[in-house]
Amino acid sequence: MKTIRMIACLSLAFAASSAFAADKVCKVEISGTDQMQYDKKEISVAADCTDVEVTLKHAGKLPAQAMGHNWVLSRTADMSGVVGDGVGAGFANNHIKAGDARVIAHTKIVGGGQSDTVTFPTSALTKGGAYSFFCTFPGHSSMMKGAFKFG
Ligand code: CO
Repeated sequence: MKTIRMIACLSLAFAASSAFAADKVCKVEISGTDQMQYDKKEISVAADCTDVEVTLKHAGKLPAQAMGHNWVLSRTADMSGVVGDGVGAGFANNHIKAGDARVIAHTKIVGGGQSDTVTFPTSALTKGGAYSFFCTFPGHSSMMKGAFKFG
């Protein structure tokens, strides 16, 4: 009896907490090609999303060392710094400087046929802020970039 009561109590507590938290994970898919392009120029995330799940797919065939792509999010003002420091960070570090606080979220670098997913909370974002996503593989960000909008 005691056990049953406890389970009932826990279920109620759980139901109550999820009603208040109401997590909403918003999913985004983007792909990169062997022609050094993303298939999206802009990503918009609604204001009621609590988390964003971004899946990057490499739709091409070239290996990551030759035509690698990642998906990196930062404030637009931080983009060139993140990209610049990413060159020296090296392939093994996904061309992202270790501990780079300007990076809000990033996937790893993928090659043809591969994919990677990253999830991050929108609490890291300001509604209406100027954000950009881009690839930090050296030389790619001039073509592989887009606007990220939240709110
Ligand atoms: Co790339």
